[in-house]
Amino acid sequence: MLILGLESSCDETAAALVTSDRRILSHRLAGQEAAHRPFGGVVPEIAARAHVEALMPLIETALSDADVTLGEVDAIAATAGPGLIGGVMVGLVTGKALAHAAGKPLIAVNHLEGHALSPRLTDPDLAFPYLLLLVSGGHCQLLLVKGVDHYVRLATTIDDAAGEAFDKTAKLLGLGFPGGPAVERAALAGDPYAVPLPRPLKGSPEPHFSFAGLKSAVSRAADTGQWSAEDISASFQQAVVDCLLDRTARAIERADGATALVVAGGVAANQAVRRALEGLASQHGLRFVAPPLWLCTDNAAMIAWAGAERFAAGLTDPLDVAARPRWPLDPVAEAVRGAGVKA
Ligand code: KG4
Ligand code: ZN
Repeated sequence: MLILGLESSCDETAAALVTSDRRILSHRLAGQEAAHRPFGGVVPEIAARAHVEALMPLIETALSDADVTLGEVDAIAATAGPGLIGGVMVGLVTGKALAHAAGKPLIAVNHLEGHALSPRLTDPDLAFPYLLLLVSGGHCQLLLVKGVDHYVRLATTIDDAAGEAFDKTAKLLGLGFPGGPAVERAALAGDPYAVPLPRPLKGSPEPHFSFAGLKSAVSRAADTGQWSAEDISASFQQAVVDCLLDRTARAIERADGATALVVAGGVAANQAVRRALEGLASQHGLRFVAPPLWLCTDNAAMIAWAGAERFAAGLTDPLDVAARPRWPLDPVAEAVRGAGVKA
C-alpha cells in the first residue's frame, strides 16, 4: 500500500509518500522559522497562510520525487488535530479535496498518533505494547501504546510541555527560535550543575510532569546576571533530563507488558535526553527505541505511516470528518489537577 501523508498542525508544512512495508519514497518539508522568528514564537495566522502557500507545491514535489502519480496512491492521510486549528484545516481540507478528486480513501490522523507510531516506521521489530514518552512543544505524556488507536495515558503535564520550556528558556536567554536546538547547543559549553534549579514533581507518586516552576526559576537565575547563558542552558537541560528520567522510571512500574521504552516528539531529538533514557531502559531490561532525529520533529512521513497502520486496521474516515484543535489519544484519561490547555 502507498500512502500520501500531509502535516500542517504547527509550523512545518510537510508531504511524504510511505509504503506499508516501511519504504519512505519521499518526504518534503517547508519550515516557517524565518516568518515566525521576529515574534519569538509561532503566530497561528502567519502559520495558516504559510501552509496554504506551501502545501500544494510540496505535494507535487513529493509525488515527483517518488516518481508516482496521485492515481497510484492507495490512501491519503492528513493530520486532523490536535494543533493550531487554521493550519490543521489547511492540511485536512487539502487531503479531503485530493481524496475526493482522485477517489481515494481519507485517513484523518491524530498528530500525536503520528509521533507515537513513528518509531515503528524505522524499527520493524518494535511490537505493541510499549511505553512511550511523547515529548514535544505542545505535549509531555507517558503512554502505554497497546496498538493502533489504543492508548492508555499514564501521565501528562500539569502545566507546560518540555519543548515549550526549552523554547521559553531560549527566548529568555536570547538564543533565538526554535529554542530546543539552540539551548542544546549552548548547553554543550556550560556546566549542568552551575545553577541551582528545581526538579518539579520529582519523587511524587503519580508520574505526571510540571515545568512551569522550572521556567520561572530559569528566569530568576537569568535576572541575577550571575551566570552565563551556557551555564543556565546546561543546568536547565539537566533539570529537564532529571525530571523526565524520574517520571519515566515511575511510569515503567505501571507499564504492564511493555518490552521497550520509546521516545518520540521534537524533544526526543535532544542527545542528552536520548542518552539518559537509554540508560534508564537498560537499567530496567527494556529495549530503547528512538526514531532518527528528522523523524522526531514534525514531518509528514510519520503521518503517512500512521495512515498506513490505520488503513491496515480498516480505519478510514468520511470526507466530512472535522478538524480538532484538541484530540487526546486516550479519551477516557482523567483530567489532571493543574492541567491547563494541553490535550
Ligand atoms: O514535535 P515537534 O516538532 O512539534 C510539536 O508537535 O510540538 O516539537 C517541537 C518542540 C519544540 O519545542 C522544540 O524546541 C523542541 O521540540 N525541540 C528540542 C530539540 N529539537 C526540537 N528540544 C530540545 N532539544 C532539541 N534538540
Ligand atoms: Zn509534533
